[in-house]
Amino acid sequence: MRNSTGALWAQQPGSRHNTVMSATSHSAPIPCVFGPCQSAEVDLLVLPWFEGETPAAVAGLDAATGSEVTRALASEEFRSRPFELFITPIVARAWKAGRVALVGAGPAAAFTPSLARRVATAAALAARVRRVRTLGFVIRPGVAAPSGDVDVAGFAQAIAEGLTLSEFNCGTYQTGEGPRPDPIAFSIVVPELRDTSPESPGRVQGAALRGRVYGESTNLARALTNEPGNALTPREFAVRCEAIASEGGAAVEILDETQIEALNMGMLLGVARGSSEPPRLMVFRHTPAEVKAGPVLALVGKGITFDTGGISIKPSEGMERMKDDMAGGAAVACAMRAIARLGAPVRVIGIVPATENMPGGRALKPGDVLRSAEGRTVEVTNTDAEGRLVLGDALWYARRLGATHLVDVATLTGGITVALGKITSGIFGTPDWWVDHVRRVGDRAGDRMWRLPLFDEYRDQLKSDIADMINTAGRVASPITAAVFLKEFTGGLPWAHIDIAGTAWADEAKPYMPKGATGVAVRTLAELPFTTDVWK
Ligand code: BES
Ligand code: MN
Ligand code: ZN
Repeated sequence: MRNSTGALWAQQPGSRHNTVMSATSHSAPIPCVFGPCQSAEVDLLVLPWFEGETPAAVAGLDAATGSEVTRALASEEFRSRPFELFITPIVARAWKAGRVALVGAGPAAAFTPSLARRVATAAALAARVRRVRTLGFVIRPGVAAPSGDVDVAGFAQAIAEGLTLSEFNCGTYQTGEGPRPDPIAFSIVVPELRDTSPESPGRVQGAALRGRVYGESTNLARALTNEPGNALTPREFAVRCEAIASEGGAAVEILDETQIEALNMGMLLGVARGSSEPPRLMVFRHTPAEVKAGPVLALVGKGITFDTGGISIKPSEGMERMKDDMAGGAAVACAMRAIARLGAPVRVIGIVPATENMPGGRALKPGDVLRSAEGRTVEVTNTDAEGRLVLGDALWYARRLGATHLVDVATLTGGITVALGKITSGIFGTPDWWVDHVRRVGDRAGDRMWRLPLFDEYRDQLKSDIADMINTAGRVASPITAAVFLKEFTGGLPWAHIDIAGTAWADEAKPYMPKGATGVAVRTLAELPFTTDVWK
């Protein structure tokens, strides 16, 4: 599979039938099958295989393959490197599977749920290219919890997520492709449970169901983010948000330009001025009937459906990528779907300010001063720093709606890619416990983040001669000064800001990820309202 990962995704039967609307329909659940490998009745039985394992590691397997496992390991045709694949027929009658796939999983001690998720995606993708119809992914007994702190349920969830992520279809706009083959019927094979309590199988199955919902929601966010700017205007984004929310069971209210004006959101309206497409403000609500008090989590996502830079226009090279400037908004919308579907035990609101950033005749000009909904004034020194403007008004609105804890997600600065590259998002905020908590939840969800500081001295860079602050402080520490700007609108609430400008988009395909939108942060945001037991 090495060197062929791009080709793998390219071979995906892309399809004009795969609209975002159809992708919102529920997919079949992934059953967990408790029993030995040999009784799994599937076309393809997938076994993660660890470095240094002997053919005897799975009892009876070598004989069932006519010693093909011994041969492949001895010849080093298969070396158990992550995502490597070795497929061979099962010849023994006692085994019900047609073929077995060993999938490289690296050293056993380093096999975390995050790696399991990726290994599952890579294996399922290879199966999909081979037109496999039924696939059983085995949770290897004894190696499921090398460090002892993650149980089988944690792996079942990650594997269900990974299998589901393989179902993502890019190429929605390619004509001439035939209809997609039927989706693979997945199952998770659990030969052995460490926890022998009677509730244990139910917990594992519940985790797999959760993983299925998280995977679907991630795929939905990817599809939305890949949509071109002419298709996904702010108004169309609002229509999609209504479909996504109602399918998940969350309430959504769409505020139009008149309602946004009535709220005095001068910063959102200022950015929208340059476009002939009117802005929208999406407000999602998950309100569990029995919950009347306690925390209200607000998720806020940047929803710039296309960012030209405005009058401070961007260079044309690579500008087409700026259709992904609503990836944070897509993450919020799709996380709200998962939160509602899974019945989070606390109130959650999701806010997505959506507009284009265009250089029209009425566009915002450098030097213009805007009044935020909160009342403070901002001198716009660069119209390309539009994300913090729309988010500032959205954060204020979240507080007005009663938020007690804030998280925002945004493709906010090119500088975050310079600092952290394309595999780690930046995280900022206050107080420490809240930022650390969000980061840890992200780690488990497969959304890696690294914290950058918000020392008071950075605030000096935002001083304006004529207004309360300027919106840009130049290239020095730009991800930090952007975050410092946002902090002004958080009213001192616990707040975490996640800059996904580097992680929202993959320039190259990986064995576990197609090119394009990644769906970053969806699972982190979806998981957060299930973690309130450790909130302060
Ligand atoms: N949407 C961009 C950030 C971005 C850049 C995302 C590249 C993905 C890839 C944002 O609105 C922006 O233009 N930021 C500017 C801010 C600057 C003018 C202070 C930037 O980072 O260059
Ligand atoms: Mn910009
Ligand atoms: Zn932007």
